[in-house]
Amino acid sequence: MKRILGILLVTAILIMACACTVMGEGETKDAKETGTYADVAADAWYADAVKTLSESGIMNGTGGGRFSPGGTFTRAQLVTVLYRMAGEPDAAADGGGAFMDVADGQWYSDAVSWAAAEGVVSGYGNGLFGTNDPVTQEQMAVMLYRRAGEPNTETAADDASDWARAAVGWARQNGIAAGQELDFSPGEAASRAQVAVMTARFMALEAADPQESGNGGTEAGSDNANDVLIIYFSAANTKDIDAVTAATPLIDSMGATEWMANEIHKKTGGDIVKIVPSVDYPLAYNDLADYAKDETDKNARPAFEALSIDPSSYKTVYIGYPVWWYTLPMVMETFFDTYDMTGVTIVPFNTHEGSRDGGTYDLISQREPGAEVLEGLPIRGGDTGSGKAASQISEWIEGLPLK
Ligand SMILES: Cc1cc2nc3c(=O)[nH]c(=O)nc-3n(C[C@H](O)[C@H](O)[C@H](O)COP(=O)(O)O)c2cc1C
Repeated sequence: MKRILGILLVTAILIMACACTVMGEGETKDAKETGTYADVAADAWYADAVKTLSESGIMNGTGGGRFSPGGTFTRAQLVTVLYRMAGEPDAAADGGGAFMDVADGQWYSDAVSWAAAEGVVSGYGNGLFGTNDPVTQEQMAVMLYRRAGEPNTETAADDASDWARAAVGWARQNGIAAGQELDFSPGEAASRAQVAVMTARFMALEAADPQESGNGGTEAGSDNANDVLIIYFSAANTKDIDAVTAATPLIDSMGATEWMANEIHKKTGGDIVKIVPSVDYPLAYNDLADYAKDETDKNARPAFEALSIDPSSYKTVYIGYPVWWYTLPMVMETFFDTYDMTGVTIVPFNTHEGSRDGGTYDLISQREPGAEVLEGLPIRGGDTGSGKAASQISEWIEGLPLK
C-alpha cells in the first residue's frame, strides 16, 4: 500500500512539474506580469517575444522567476500555447480522441482535443500523440502551418523531413523560421526561446495579414474567395510517409494525387484539405496493395481524421483520390457516407496506372444523388509532375461548366 501511495505521489509531482513549465505556476508575480525573467537579458534576441507572450499569458516561465530559454518544450506544451493563442475555445471532451497517451482531465487534454479536431496535430500515426516528447523545430513549423490553413507555398525545404517540407518552406518564406540567431534546424528539438520567437512571429503575421496566415476567411461557411474546396486522399502522404514511393519509381516525394490537388489549387484558389485515414497504411507497396484489397473485399469504411472544414458548405468541391483495385479507396466511401453533398457541384479528379477513372465518377453520382457531378480528370500517376499534366489540368479547369 505504502509503495502504491509512493508511486502516486511521485506521479503527481512529475505531472505538476511538467504542468508548471508551461503554466508558470511557480514563477513570481512580477516575472509573469512584466515578462522579465532573471535568465532573459533585456537585449537577448528572444527578449521581446518572451515579454509579449508572457504579458498575454500565452507562454510563461519555468518557475522561480526564470524562463529557461535554452530548455526544451514538449509537444503537449506547444499545443497548449497554440490553444491559448486561439482563445481556448471549447474542446471536445474526449481528451484528444484517438490518442492513447492523452487521458481526460490532464492540463493539456482540452488543448490536444482542440488541436486534433482542428487538424493542427495528427499524432505519430500509431495512436500516440507523444505528449511528453520534446517538440522538434519542424514539428512546430508543421503545427503553425496547419494552424495557418496550409497556405500554398512556392518553396519546399529540402533539409526537412518529407512531411514537413512545405511547412518549413512556408515558415522560412514568412520569416517565422528565419534568422541567424534563431538558427532553425528542422530535426532538432526546439528551445523555449525558439518557441517564443516563432510563436510571436506567427502572431504578428496573423495580425498583419490574416489571409496569408490562413486564419481569415477560410473557415467553412465564410466568404471564401470563390467558395472552392479541393479535398483529396493520397496514400503516399497518408501519414507523412511515402507508401507508394517506397515501391515504385513513379512518384517522387509527393503523392501523385496530392500533386494533382496542389496543381488544381494553384489555378482555382480556395481551400485545400487532405483526407488522412485514422490508422497507418502499410509502408511497402505490396503490403499496401494487400491491405487495400482486404478493405475493398470487406467493403470496409475506414475512419479518417476529423476535417477542419465542412465540405458540404462549399459551392464547388474538387474531390481527388487514386484508383485502388479498380474503384474508390474505401476511405473515400467513408467520406461519401459521412457527407451529404446535396446542392454542391462536385468535380472529381484521380490518378491511376491504367484504369483511368475506373467508373468512380459514376459511383460518386450514385453516392451523392443531390450533387451535380461534373466530368472529372484522370491522370496517370507516372505523368504527374510533368508540364504536360499541368497543361491538361489547366485546359480541363477552363472547360468546366462552372457557374
Ligand atoms: C493499393 C493500390 C491499388 C491500386 N489499384 C490500382 C488499380 O486498380 N488501377 C490502376 O490503374 N491503378 C491502381 N493503383 C495505382 C494508383 O492508382 C496510382 O499509383 C496512383 O497514382 C497513386 O496515387 P497516390 O500517390 O496519390 O497515392 C493502385 C495503387 C495502390 C497503392
